[in-house]
Amino acid sequence: MSNTPWWRDAVFYQIYPRSFTDGNGDGIGDFMGMAAKLDYLAKLGVDALWISPHFPSPNLDWGYDVSDYLDTAPEYGGMPAFRAFLDGAHGRGLKVILDLVLNHTSDLHPWFLESASSRDNPKADWYVWADRPPNDWQSCFDGPAWTYVPERGQYYYHYFMRQQPDLNWHNPDVKKAMWDAVRFWLDLGVDGFRLDAIGTIFEDPDLAPHGLPLDLARLRRLSETAVSRADKRRVQRYWHDMFKRQWGQPGVHELMKELRALVDGYQGDRVLIAEDDNIAYQGRGDDEIHMVFNFPLMRTESITPAHVRSNQRARQKALDRLPARGWPCNTLGNHDSPRMRTRFGGVDPEHSLALARLNAAMVTLIRGTPVLYNGEELGMEDLVLDNPADLRDTMAVWYLGQLTDTLGVPPDEAARRAADMTRDRCRSPVQWGPGPNADFCPAGVRPWLPVHPDHARGVNAADQETDPDSILAWYRRILALRRAEPALRRGEQRFVDGGSGSVLAWLRREPGSPRAVLVALNYGDTPAILRARSVSGPGTVLESTDRQATGSAVDARRLRLAPLSAVVVALENRKS
Ligand code: GLC
Ligand code: CA
Repeated sequence: MSNTPWWRDAVFYQIYPRSFTDGNGDGIGDFMGMAAKLDYLAKLGVDALWISPHFPSPNLDWGYDVSDYLDTAPEYGGMPAFRAFLDGAHGRGLKVILDLVLNHTSDLHPWFLESASSRDNPKADWYVWADRPPNDWQSCFDGPAWTYVPERGQYYYHYFMRQQPDLNWHNPDVKKAMWDAVRFWLDLGVDGFRLDAIGTIFEDPDLAPHGLPLDLARLRRLSETAVSRADKRRVQRYWHDMFKRQWGQPGVHELMKELRALVDGYQGDRVLIAEDDNIAYQGRGDDEIHMVFNFPLMRTESITPAHVRSNQRARQKALDRLPARGWPCNTLGNHDSPRMRTRFGGVDPEHSLALARLNAAMVTLIRGTPVLYNGEELGMEDLVLDNPADLRDTMAVWYLGQLTDTLGVPPDEAARRAADMTRDRCRSPVQWGPGPNADFCPAGVRPWLPVHPDHARGVNAADQETDPDSILAWYRRILALRRAEPALRRGEQRFVDGGSGSVLAWLRREPGSPRAVLVALNYGDTPAILRARSVSGPGTVLESTDRQATGSAVDARRLRLAPLSAVVVALENRKS
């Protein structure tokens, strides 16, 4: 029996429930739909599902404004559908983690309604109240961070939208209520949580102003119009300085330790993954968050071998410094960021698809737990919302209004800017088939967000199911390989030099094992040769973007790589 907790071996897959599959024909994804796709997910070869918030919500931030932590949204099928889904997932050996929003609730949560009703109700101190705005802080979504409530004659603080008031975590009753919610879901059998925005839980106790000469809308606009290097640097500094007193404040570590102890009280290695890239939140490596995301990996304009190598070296070094050695968690996309094929692939569809394959192999075969985002396995791309009336992301709707009404930007340009920054672009319905509505919901029903037109051009599960060269088939192959090869899950990692600048290659090997696995990716448009001198020569191809190559014998010291290709090679009796 191995002591490795399941989440170190697992591949996670994020489901954005509203956009995954509509099971009851109302144009909105739900647990009935998710349950119907469990076989698809099992066959894909993922091990664990992260479900973006499924709680009842007025949906001003599509679930990230929770109005009841102890229930499932009615439009997702309520608790019966949730339980059926959870059973179905567990029955197939799939783990399920939920999305826990700690920093704030919805402004329609009964806690807030009570807190806002007077200055002396039992929950008066559950949120962050002030007689007048104590500073110039901004919400990162919609302008001033302080909003007035006439019933109290006071202002409340919100890091996110005005409909997302921040909880006062200094109040022990808040903590107790939230930990009760955590227990509720753990008792039901969920396998852990992705923790939303933990960095924003506490604010600077001195409430010191940011003091910048502009507000959020103007800073966004400045980011769009900055051209010179100096201006771009100034914009970056402004983004940091505007919010630096509103996140990353003391107190989070203590809180995470408490939550970890609570979770550790349950059997089955329940897991916590934080939406933060700060390795410090992994504590000693065994007493706070199990994993934080390696966001710096995706925070780049293009994925290059040099970028990946330097990212991996820096992260691994920092994780190795933790007394109990931390474990990495890698991802290239989620519901807040552009889709990885679009972001890192450019405009030519063939080229972007080829790069998406390489990046899929990269993120799943480097050391750590990968987290995939629904639809990336189909090569889904960002949706451009030409019509501002189709925008559903309130943050973009707000910005559009600012652009036209306050900043005097012409409507056409404003619409383009909003389409560019809206998170709707990566949230369009998952494409199951080539037919109407991409088989996300029935023909004739209007899906909550438009489907991407490329579903009719092969970017859909049904067409790819029967095509052994589809990107879906590629994901299945690399995930199956990862599952079959302990070295690819648990092995140490060493980058292999000796080739052209377009080649990224690394070795994975479990300490003490004679078997090593070499992964080589050629990001270039021309053939390349990898000359990995430190590697023992003869090897067998385990997987390759060229299916014919699988099983063939190769010399790993002189490995030929076709343009935009991936090759995974097994090496026995490795010397070094
Ligand atoms: C996180 C979520 C994002 C949400 C925000 C507020 O960043 O990923 O979607 O809007 O927190 O909850
Ligand atoms: Ca539905």
